[in-house]
Amino acid sequence: MAIVAGNWKMALGVGESVELARKIASFASDANYPHTEIWIAPSPPCLGAVSPIVQNTPVKLGAQNAHWELKGAFTGESSVPQLKELGCSFVIVGHSERRHIFGETKGDIAKRAHRALIEGLTPVFCVGETEKEREDGKTALIIAEQLSPFLELIKETSSYANFVVAYEPVWAIGTGKVANVEQIEEAHGVILDLLGEALDKTSIPVLYGGSVKPDNFSEIISIPNVSGALVGGASLDSEKFRKLVEIAEERA
Ligand code: PGA
Repeated sequence: MAIVAGNWKMALGVGESVELARKIASFASDANYPHTEIWIAPSPPCLGAVSPIVQNTPVKLGAQNAHWELKGAFTGESSVPQLKELGCSFVIVGHSERRHIFGETKGDIAKRAHRALIEGLTPVFCVGETEKEREDGKTALIIAEQLSPFLELIKETSSYANFVVAYEPVWAIGTGKVANVEQIEEAHGVILDLLGEALDKTSIPVLYGGSVKPDNFSEIISIPNVSGALVGGASLDSEKFRKLVEIAEERA
């Protein structure tokens, strides 16, 4: 099963999000994509309006972050129960914009993902190196440092199967630069080895993210250890997003 997940970031207003969700729900319901899951993550103020549009369609709704506490004095945060109440079934955690712009730490990101996991909201756990870290030959080390605190926490959880990892090299996000096949294959291999060592499990989907577009996705989705994509820019255009879903479906 492939996953094509759209991260809408803070790009759209409420009305625009509703409009885009309608188009995606419509193509997802009209066509049959038995091998591809279609996921969308609008920004928090748009979730309530988008939720009824994708309800009872093949489109899964998700959020772009969640706090590790169930409730309390955490201004600006969203809780996992709130997101579930809105109809979310997944949440992006540890996106590079959260790590690098907002200074979220590895430990906090692990706690966010762990809370989502134990409350039944699938975390999409993002990892990825900066350009400098890649140049310094530290890609595998950075991925391990980002993923390990989460893997440590979930070792104690009885059911840990329900999560997704997204490899998103920071230098490829929103830049038009795409990691090449060898770079993606290698990074995904590192992630799968870490998962295998920590959890004795290798069936966790690993998505690639970073400037995925219809004209580069066929090559990316053909890499054996790539299970789909986390898409920013191209997910804001329903036609491009539909093409990505069709490419994933063809390769499945
Ligand atoms: P992009 O963003 O597709 O615009 O590079 C990907 C992401 O941030 O998840």
